[in-house]
Amino acid sequence: MTEATAPGKIILFGEHAVVYGRPAIAVPVRDVRAKVTIQNLTAPSQAGSLWVESKAIGLSSWLHEIDGGHPLAKIITLTLEAIGLETVPSLRLAINSSIPLASGLGSGAAVSVAVSRALSEHLGRPLALKDLSSLAFEVDRIHHGTPSGIDNTVVVYDRPVYFIPGKEPERLEVGLPFMLIIGDSGQPSATIEAVAQVRDSWISDKPSMEALFDSIGSVTNQAREAIRDGDLPRLGGLMNQNQSLLLDLGVSTPTLELLIEAAGAAGAIGVKVSGAGLGGNIIALVDQDSQRAVKRALIANGASKVLYTEVSTEVSP
Ligand code: PMV
Repeated sequence: MTEATAPGKIILFGEHAVVYGRPAIAVPVRDVRAKVTIQNLTAPSQAGSLWVESKAIGLSSWLHEIDGGHPLAKIITLTLEAIGLETVPSLRLAINSSIPLASGLGSGAAVSVAVSRALSEHLGRPLALKDLSSLAFEVDRIHHGTPSGIDNTVVVYDRPVYFIPGKEPERLEVGLPFMLIIGDSGQPSATIEAVAQVRDSWISDKPSMEALFDSIGSVTNQAREAIRDGDLPRLGGLMNQNQSLLLDLGVSTPTLELLIEAAGAAGAIGVKVSGAGLGGNIIALVDQDSQRAVKRALIANGASKVLYTEVSTEVSP
């Protein structure tokens, strides 16, 4: 049997602007993970058939019965191609994920990476990190046509990254570990719609949108320094600045704003939307003193789920 996992993720700075070539910062959320287990099928009648199971999406099926455009069929086929296997191996592939679906926590990318990692290892041809990342990127293109590549990158490397599209991801130095609270608005995150909406605005007014992206890029670069220096007050201020730029981009919603206000009033050092917006999550920077009050305030104001995550440079075992 072979088992592989991949973490959830959140975007700390630079969402949307990253689609237009600006830098972004993302971190893994290690307490929620996609886990894939693979076993050989030995019955002769099962030769050349691969069984796929995922409780979260209610799927139990042979690979050849799944639509070829389905993300799971796609990542399996791409992986078999990448390792040069021409026939489908007789396997049972089971996916168990604790990452909430459609909430901006990168569940799709994590499942792709865990499937590809488990499959290539089980078949004795483990893929390099950069290959795992490009296969997951291919699949992400089904979800939304123009992904920046940040999701697959942070999930594959499983450590905080400073990312510019088309460049090697850089390690993010974390001078002092810090704590974030992730509050789920309960509205499904709408990556395709939000990315399309921003694109429409960009097409209709490129100079203003480019200026907004530049400001977001500059905030992201300053945040990288604040994280390196362990300067949490500065980091919180930059999160708030990034949020006001996301408001200008038009991807916040009254529900997200309510959570942001509640977290701020309860003592969060900084708060912003994380990911595409129009739903999904907000993230709040907290310390020991504020974390319980912020969690309570988010729940009292309608958050459907609240998770903690610690950001540190440490790499998973
Ligand atoms: O909604 P999420 O967490 O998958 O983030 C999307 C981030 C965007 O910058 C809006 C799109 C992208 O591909 O980077």
